[in-house]
Formats: sequence, C-alpha cells, structure tokens
Amino acid sequence: MSDLFKVERAERGIVTVTLTRAKIHNAFNDEMIEGLTDTFKELGSDDNCQIIMITGEGKSFCAGADLNWMKKMVDYSVEENYKDSMALATLFETIDKCPKVVIGKVNGAALGGGTGLVAVCDHVIAHEDALLGLTETRLGLVPAVISPYIIRKIGESNARTLFLSGKRFDAKEAMRIGLVHQVSLDRHFEKDSEELCHEFLKSGPEAKAVAKELIQSVTRLSEPNDYMDYTCKTIAGRRVSSEGQEGMNALLEKRKPNWLND
Ligand code: COA
Repeated sequence: MSDLFKVERAERGIVTVTLTRAKIHNAFNDEMIEGLTDTFKELGSDDNCQIIMITGEGKSFCAGADLNWMKKMVDYSVEENYKDSMALATLFETIDKCPKVVIGKVNGAALGGGTGLVAVCDHVIAHEDALLGLTETRLGLVPAVISPYIIRKIGESNARTLFLSGKRFDAKEAMRIGLVHQVSLDRHFEKDSEELCHEFLKSGPEAKAVAKELIQSVTRLSEPNDYMDYTCKTIAGRRVSSEGQEGMNALLEKRKPNWLND
C-alpha cells in the first residue's frame, strides 16, 4: 500500500482505489503513476475483483500531473522525458484495457490528466460540483498522452474547442459531450455510487470482460469480413461458455444466475 493512494476491498468484488494526495488535489507524480499501474494490472487479473471504483480524497478527484514534479523535467534529457511520458501512457493504457469494470467517482475537480483518468473509465458518476477541463494549453503544454482516450469519448469537434481553449466545464457539460454518464446531487452521491456498482454486478463476470474487449476491438476493425468474423467468433464462444449457459438457463428457469448467489 502506498501513501499516495489506497486500495479498499468491499463485498462482492468491489474494490475502491482512492487517491490520497488531498493537499495538492491528488495530482500525480512518477511514484503514483507506477503504483497505480501495478495496482490496475494486479486487479485486472484478480478473480476476486469485479469492479474498480476510482475516486479522490478531499475536495478534488485529480488535478492532473503534479506541476512541481513536471517542472523538474526541464533538467531531464529528451530520452528521459520520453521514458517518463511512456510510464504515464502505460498507466492510461492499463486502465483503459483493464478487463474489470472501471468506475470513475468524480468527487470534485478533474483537470488535465484528471480528465484523462475520467476518459479511461467505463462509467463515470460525477458530483454536481465536479469541474473538468483539458487545461494543459493554459500552461503552455498539450493533453498529448491522454488525447487518444479523450478524443474517442468526445470526438474531434469537442476536442478542438476544449484542447485549444483549455476552458473548464461542469459535470452537466461533461455529460453532454460523453465524458460523464450521470451527475449526482451532493446528498445522493454516495448512495448513487453504491447502487451503480450493484447494477454492474448483475452482469456475468466473464461477459463483462468480453464485452469490454468487444467494444475496443470492434471499433478498430473497418473491413466487414474482419468485424463479422470477430463478432461471430465472440458470440459463438459465449453461447457455449458455462457462464453463458448458466445465464440463459437461469432466465428460463426463473431463478438468479449463480454469479448472484453469495
Ligand atoms: N500540481 C501540483 N500542485 C497543485 C496542483 C497540481 N496539478 N493543483 C493544485 N496544486 C496545489 C496548489 O499549488 C496549492 O499549493 P499550496 O497550498 O502550496 O499553495 C494547493 O494544491 C491547493 O490548491 P489551490 O489552487 O489553492 O486550491 P483551490 O481549491 O483553490 O483549487 C484546483 C483547486 C484543483 C481547481 C486548482 O488548484 C487548479 O486549478 N489546479 C491546477 C490544475 C491543472 O491545471 N492541472 C493540469 C496539469 S497539466
């Protein structure tokens, strides 16, 4: 366990990862990037984990890169800067491809790389006061490493205005452009977040992982022969899987599937 974030396990495979650098709004540095990457890799292959909820301690979700850490990179060589950026890219890629349901519980500001973290979540619940923004250009930087994930979620048109202006936007606007799935009032935020996990627990554990892979793979196949082959192989595999058989039998027999029995 690190002092930069904590990992807590609840019942039924729900794991919460909380960023704990509240004093600087949970901004991330190299140590945090490495620790989070390892944690998401481990949880990704952990049969006792179904859902990973990522959130922040204190007022903010994540204020992006720790600017004091990033400022020091002026003394790094080009190679060192590249290697360092690759570590950050690996974190986002690891979360993006994590075979578990990743839920972003955005409790406050999510800026720069914080909005990047939002973009690699499967479902995002935002507090009514959450504030997002691709603020990098206001610092003379660019949202480079996070751009593939952001653009996939919001499209090129929204990316043009938000990357170039660096302006901040609220939770409702984030929902309108597809970064956030639900906005919750302060008094409902905790309860809504809990209920949300229960919705995801209703789906088969393996099916969730396959569905996530399906979304990522099918959108990258452009030739009909390729995507038809891929989708047919995928459903053929699920039909004969024990989880698929169990799910269909449970519905026909009017009972709960075995993954809902504790
Ligand atoms: N890196 C390092 N330190 C940061 C930080 C970051 N990304 N974001 C905030 N902090 C630090 C502030 O420098 C301040 O430090 P201090 O107490 O030594 O003065 C402390 O966190 C509190 O921040 P403050 O701005 O006073 O809090 P606030 O509640 O008024 O505002 C934010 C919170 C997150 C909205 C605001 O700090 C902010 O806009 N941060 C920059 C976020 C950003 O642009 N990130 C993109 C990085 S590429």
